[in-house]
Amino acid sequence: MVAQLLGLAFLYLTTSLLTFTAYAVEIQHNGEVVYQDTSVYGVVGKAVILECGPTLPDMYIWSFTKPGTEGIKAVVYNMGQGPRIQKLAATLGQLTLISKSASVSIEKLPLAAHGLYTCQAFYNIEEELIVYYYNVHLTVRVPVTKPFLLMSDASPVEGSTMWMRCNLENGTGPIQYKFQHETRSGNITVFAQGNSSLINVTDINRNHTGWYRCVASNAVNSESSNRLWLDTIFGPDVPQIDVTPYSITERGYSALERETVSLLCQAQSNPASQYVWFYNNSQVYTGPQFTIMKILRMHTGDYACLAQNTYLNTRSKKTISLTVYYPPDGSPSCSVEPALNHTSMRLLCSWPGGFPSPSLLWTGDLMHAGQDQGDPGLQTNPLTRNDILLPSGGLTSNNSLFTCRGSHPALKQLTTECSTRTYIPPAEPVCFAYVTNNKQYLMLSCSWDGGAPKAMVWWEGPGGQGKGGEENSNILILRYGSAHGGKPYTCHAKHPLLVQTKTCRLTLEAPVLLTQRRVVSVYEGSDVQLTCNLRANYLPATEITWFNNQGVGVGETSKYRLLRTSAWANLTVRDLDETQDSGEYRCSTSNAVGGTEINVTLVVKRHPMPPNATLVRVMYNSRQRNEVELEWQVENEGHGGWTGFLLEHRWVSERPGRRGSNNDSKEQTEERIVRPIWYDNFIRDPDVRIHTVGRLTPTVTYQFRITPVNHRTIGHPSAEKTPAEPRYNVYPAVIGAAIGGMLFAVIVTVLLLVYIIRNRNNNPRLHDMLFGQQHSQSRENINFPEDDVVGGSEGGLEEIGGSSSTGPTMAFPRAASPLTTSPTSATPTTTSQAPPPGDDNEPVSVTITVKATSS
Ligand SMILES: *[C@@H]1O[C@H](CO)[C@@H](O)[C@H](O)[C@H]1NC(C)=O
Ligand SMILES: *[C@@H]1O[C@H](CO)[C@@H](O)[C@H](O)[C@H]1NC(C)=O
Ligand SMILES: *[C@@H]1O[C@H](CO)[C@@H](O)[C@H](O)[C@H]1NC(C)=O
Ligand SMILES: *[C@@H]1O[C@H](CO)[C@@H](O)[C@H](O)[C@H]1NC(C)=O
Ligand SMILES: *[C@@H]1O[C@H](CO)[C@@H](O)[C@H](O)[C@H]1NC(C)=O
Ligand SMILES: *[C@@H]1O[C@H](CO)[C@@H](O)[C@H](O)[C@H]1NC(C)=O
Ligand SMILES: *[C@@H]1O[C@H](CO)[C@@H](O)[C@H](O)[C@H]1NC(C)=O
Ligand SMILES: *[C@@H]1O[C@H](CO)[C@@H](O)[C@H](O)[C@H]1NC(C)=O
Ligand SMILES: *[C@@H]1O[C@H](CO)[C@@H](O)[C@H](O)[C@H]1NC(C)=O
Repeated sequence: MVAQLLGLAFLYLTTSLLTFTAYAVEIQHNGEVVYQDTSVYGVVGKAVILECGPTLPDMYIWSFTKPGTEGIKAVVYNMGQGPRIQKLAATLGQLTLISKSASVSIEKLPLAAHGLYTCQAFYNIEEELIVYYYNVHLTVRVPVTKPFLLMSDASPVEGSTMWMRCNLENGTGPIQYKFQHETRSGNITVFAQGNSSLINVTDINRNHTGWYRCVASNAVNSESSNRLWLDTIFGPDVPQIDVTPYSITERGYSALERETVSLLCQAQSNPASQYVWFYNNSQVYTGPQFTIMKILRMHTGDYACLAQNTYLNTRSKKTISLTVYYPPDGSPSCSVEPALNHTSMRLLCSWPGGFPSPSLLWTGDLMHAGQDQGDPGLQTNPLTRNDILLPSGGLTSNNSLFTCRGSHPALKQLTTECSTRTYIPPAEPVCFAYVTNNKQYLMLSCSWDGGAPKAMVWWEGPGGQGKGGEENSNILILRYGSAHGGKPYTCHAKHPLLVQTKTCRLTLEAPVLLTQRRVVSVYEGSDVQLTCNLRANYLPATEITWFNNQGVGVGETSKYRLLRTSAWANLTVRDLDETQDSGEYRCSTSNAVGGTEINVTLVVKRHPMPPNATLVRVMYNSRQRNEVELEWQVENEGHGGWTGFLLEHRWVSERPGRRGSNNDSKEQTEERIVRPIWYDNFIRDPDVRIHTVGRLTPTVTYQFRITPVNHRTIGHPSAEKTPAEPRYNVYPAVIGAAIGGMLFAVIVTVLLLVYIIRNRNNNPRLHDMLFGQQHSQSRENINFPEDDVVGGSEGGLEEIGGSSSTGPTMAFPRAASPLTTSPTSATPTTTSQAPPPGDDNEPVSVTITVKATSS
């Protein structure tokens, strides 16, 4: 711009001077030489016109004075004969005269043409001579050449000082210098200008970076240098860290777990920074952008970016703290708990873990709490738990639903929730009592569960016995025996949803035992059942224990059978034996309030001695002497019962040949072989009177005897008899007929008896008439205490048991079943049998009574 202006000024100057030289001369006529001075500016190599007056003079002389010299030398003249150019003119460029004037044109001006040109012009020579001296000062100027820029340092460090110089070869002064700065973006500004070709730049900064060029200008022209790049070395500045996604808190940056976090570090530097990332002071990454895919909570910590300028070996660092937000695990957990001594409730909501703490908000089914009770204070707390107290006084209705919603920044928009209900236990409180196994403690249990929150349950009893509140259920433990009988133990139960307290009561009583009969009398060989029952079937179950006649507690054995329920215990004594099983049995029970026992006397009786029997006939039925037929009869058939007969025989002697065969020859004949062993032959039919014994040895003399048997009681054996020899052949037929008649009679009798026995309940009198009192006794097997006559029948068994003659074969069949299997037996056999019911037992105490009442 300036260059252009200067250029224009120069052109204007030259043209105006030319104009001046052409028209400003005025001719004087006083004879004096007129002097006129002008200045002409030329440029090397270009053309210039030097004027000598406006009109052609009659004569003129151009002369040249070199600056700094005195000498004046002619260049060209014209004395009227045409112009004469001097040799000197050749050194002043291509000099020519302009026709019809005295003006001189010089082309290709050399620098040597610079100087004073004087044109002496003579006018009007024929008349009055007029002389002009035209002094033309020619200035030859040199244009500026293309400058070149020099920098003391093309890569200065920020803060340092440098210089720039604009150099050029030629150019007429004064020369103006202009320094231009072109930024990277192409914005060109004038950085400095003046007449100095050198500028000092102090405190270089990064803004100085860019292209530089200089422009040199003089009166002739203006030239611009080539541009040079100035590269300021600087940095790194303190880095700037950009976290994406951007989320800043008072703690620093935050990120949500599992998202991708990108950390970008930028630090201004030339040359560009090298970046290194550190996590908690350990290097983790190299490069400007550190990206963490799926960031986790453990990535919380300090992240530092270190920027380095490797050229300057300088570095700078910035640290940020990044906190990773993570939600708590799972979902919130809700519960309701009683508060204010079970008059109110507190809703508990907790959701531990997570960072930062989640927000928890209770919303509730509060319309049930009463008609529009308003907002009872549901609030959000940025805590891991949010507990609120509900108003007391039964304002919350049964079965209300409350929901706690949890939200957390790391869960975005999702909320998770939990809910809880409050309700009254569905049933009434339940009370019951029980005893520990070892009978050390009595437990009174009260429970009222199923509510939310749990109900409070406590015991109050007589004598200060009680127990403080517990939730849902409460067991009052009393030392066995320390409980108070007859007075109620009260269980109180309180639920926050109910204003009133519920109660249930237990009243303890001592047990009372009953038995059907205190004395039980039974024939031996049978089974008997002793009964014992509680007067009332109360809780807790008091166990009944039976002790046998030895005072030993009985269990289930082959001897005893124990049937037990909570209400009764029946002891069956099997296969009664007179000596072993008679005695006092004891049934016992107790509870926490008291104990009791009851004695039952068991009398086991022998069956009465059967009547005596006599052998009326003992005879071989053939000459072979190997079978003997016996017949006997029972004495006093009306008295005493019998169930069968024991028919025995033994060897008395063996004779070499047949000798005397006398009925009475019992013991005397041959003493040498006496076998005192009785061979048994048991006849189970009490109605049989004839029996044949076979497989006898013909050469042996036998003795036979018969003994009636009544169950286990064995009667007196009859007198022994030796069989007689058979007689006529007619005899057997007669006897046979007689026996046949007898048998027929017997069969008819048996059928009648069977009928009567089967129908004895319908026909008791006929029954009694036929069997009499003794049969009745043996049949029913029981003597009631009132009509019993114990004793008298002793000895029979003892006698037999003690007899030395019985020996090892005396293993006697047992009473009950074997003897009763005979289908023709008219004698009813004994079986264990319950005594007829009687009311003769007074209550002897013992039992626990528990009455449960609730309100
Ligand atoms: C500068 O001037 C000198 C002397 O007048 C001359 O010899 C030279 O060629 C010029 N240089 C340029 C670049 O014009
Ligand atoms: C160039 O620089 C000047 C002065 O600094 C400024 O006003 C102008 O807006 C810049 N132009 C561009 C294109 O940057
Ligand atoms: C530039 O600095 C040098 C020395 O550092 C001094 O001689 C010179 O005069 C200074 N020039 C300008 C224009 O300040
Ligand atoms: C560089 O230029 C910018 C904008 O033109 C300015 O804000 C900054 O301060 C300058 N820097 C220095 C070191 O002068
Ligand atoms: C990193 O530092 C933070 C804050 O000092 C600490 O909480 C975190 O446990 C550290 N992490 C590791 C992996 O050391
Ligand atoms: C709690 O309630 C029970 C029965 O309602 C009462 O006996 C007890 O004193 C109360 N306790 C307190 C601390 O209020
Ligand atoms: C309370 O609500 C529960 C659950 O619906 C129900 O079983 C119970 O009977 C209710 N109790 C009362 C007193 O309404
Ligand atoms: C046990 O005796 C009781 C009477 O005390 C009676 O009611 C019950 O039926 C008997 N049980 C058996 C199995 O006989
Ligand atoms: C039965 O016989 C025995 C001995 O043989 C005798 O002592 C007893 O008196 C007899 N009994 C009767 C009732 O005759």
